[in-house]
Amino acid sequence: MALPAILSGLRLPVVAAPLFIISHPPLVMAQCKAGVVGAFPALNARPKEQLDEWLAEITEELSAHDAKNPTRPAAPFAVNQIVHRSNDRLEHDLATCVKHKVPIVITSLGAVEEVNQAVHSYGGIVLHDIIHDRHARKAIEKGADGLIAVAAGAGGHAGTLSPFALVQEIRQWFDGPLLLSGAIANGGAVLAAEAMGADLAYIGSPFIATHEARAPDAYKEMIVKSRAADIVYSNLFTGVHGNYLKGSIVQAGMDPDDLPEADPSKMNFASADAKAWRDIWGSGQGIGAVTQITGAGALVERLADEYAAAKARLCG
Ligand SMILES: Cc1cc2nc3c(=O)[nH]c(=O)nc-3n(C[C@H](O)[C@H](O)[C@H](O)COP(=O)(O)O)c2cc1C
Repeated sequence: MALPAILSGLRLPVVAAPLFIISHPPLVMAQCKAGVVGAFPALNARPKEQLDEWLAEITEELSAHDAKNPTRPAAPFAVNQIVHRSNDRLEHDLATCVKHKVPIVITSLGAVEEVNQAVHSYGGIVLHDIIHDRHARKAIEKGADGLIAVAAGAGGHAGTLSPFALVQEIRQWFDGPLLLSGAIANGGAVLAAEAMGADLAYIGSPFIATHEARAPDAYKEMIVKSRAADIVYSNLFTGVHGNYLKGSIVQAGMDPDDLPEADPSKMNFASADAKAWRDIWGSGQGIGAVTQITGAGALVERLADEYAAAKARLCG
């Protein structure tokens, strides 16, 4: 199946993943102007009325950019909606996305037909993130247009499956838009994702170490200094397993090698865990590739250079 026009023709086949607390308009606009899809979770706009302002700002700024740079227009942007009972803003946030005709909506946790229909009503597309083939099938049944396979090693609520296993199973029955995430942090890995059968790479953690990211400097520095062995997979902080920086767990006074298990009944994705994300810093395993804090545009440049070099290497 051909990739929808909105996802093709990007400078690089990359969607910058939404990051709780961290992604905000300056980062999203820098990502889009650099030629990759920029994204943020709707919940990052607080209070909820701020979402309307953010969407107006991003839309206006990107169309002004396009008017000035007709040969190098900005990539489209995406808003992430947490479709879970703990998110009491969903109806409001979705209506605001419909009002602004947000081009791409990324849904996480729940696959709900009404959400997909609302986005389709104005011509938007929905990408749903999953960690298992079973969830992927359900998402497509409910009307999502594409899938984001979140494999082992990803930042945030990562899965445990190898990207090879996950992509191959999904590609047995689904030929629509497929994104792959999990520790993709250099241009060669973007090409590898395509070689495996994905259409685009979905990259989160490297964007934390950018000037535009809304993260404390110490967090950005820890991303630069840390490597895969410094990532801890635990369900303690939100009730669902995710990947976190060991250094931030130590800073919070806990022993990263001896964390208790969480109580799943306390799962909350919308508000109470904000504190957890603020103090316990999420990150995927790919950050060994991040050696300095740069602008988001420079990060995309690096990925594009590495992607071209990897392609040249493989094609002789
Ligand atoms: C700090 C942090 C916050 C995240 N917040 C969200 C979120 O709010 N919604 C979501 O769908 N995914 C979230 N994710 C997951 C990312 O969107 C993406 O799946 C992941 O970062 C990809 O793996 P990578 O970090 O190894 O590139 C978060 C990841 C990190 C590291």
